[in-house]
Amino acid sequence: MSETDDLLALAIRLAREAGAIQRERYETDLTIATKSAAVDLVTEVDHACEALVVGAIERERPDDAILAEEGSGVDRPGARHRWVIDPLDGTTNYAHAYPRFCVSIGVEREGEPLLGVVYDPLMDELYTATAGGGAFCNDRPIHVSTETALDRALLATGFAYDRRKSERDNLESFAAMLKSARALRRDGSAALDLCYVAAGRLDGYWELKLSPWDVAAGALIVEEAGGRMSDVHGGSDHRSGRTVVASNGALHEAMRRVLLDTGAAA
Ligand code: IPD
Ligand code: CA
Ligand code: CA
Repeated sequence: MSETDDLLALAIRLAREAGAIQRERYETDLTIATKSAAVDLVTEVDHACEALVVGAIERERPDDAILAEEGSGVDRPGARHRWVIDPLDGTTNYAHAYPRFCVSIGVEREGEPLLGVVYDPLMDELYTATAGGGAFCNDRPIHVSTETALDRALLATGFAYDRRKSERDNLESFAAMLKSARALRRDGSAALDLCYVAAGRLDGYWELKLSPWDVAAGALIVEEAGGRMSDVHGGSDHRSGRTVVASNGALHEAMRRVLLDTGAAA
């Protein structure tokens, strides 16, 4: 097995194990706290999933750097590999027993995306991609949609946790897209939204003010499924999460135009 195969196998194992915790604790009484804002939640399951994933990487890959949302990662400057982990993407959904959440694990090699794994434990859907190796859902190849017209497109987006205070709240873009597209969804898990673009269930997705762990895995899965990822300017800053546009490629410029016209630029 190549080193990439080993890393992929480890990422899949950890995503499934964390997903099993999410499945077991779903719809149970959870301890819930807030983070950056009253609407930014974290549950004991976020922490339990992160402890499982980070603990295993530390044991099995002690030289690798780790960036993990809840802060238990280890920054190792100069490390060849970096893991970028969202232990539970869709925490608000999870806290409300709304069945849409996942584990997201990306790995970079020398700063470039190498692989992505996203696991939806309730649907038992495992999305995987490796750079140059294509994208899969439960081992079946997936591809973005072929839709070419924005007015026939199904799109998704999300709203940042600072929306009660910030004027850059995505509402103007949301309104404009609502008028332009066939329909919009806001389903509360950025990583799954990206996988749905990759699988052709959504034609496009955008969001502002995400973080690297929201997109590390899903962005590679979209690209390997034949889609396009960029920031609102068409560059590669989507990896920071500041502005993220994902599409089947054909709709990308039309989506970017609407976003730029409605003040979505950072
Ligand atoms: C959030 C979800 C949500 C998106 C937020 C993210 P979290 O991640 O992906 O869909 O709209 O911007 O922060 O907090 O549930 O991991
Ligand atoms: Ca997230
Ligand atoms: Ca999270």
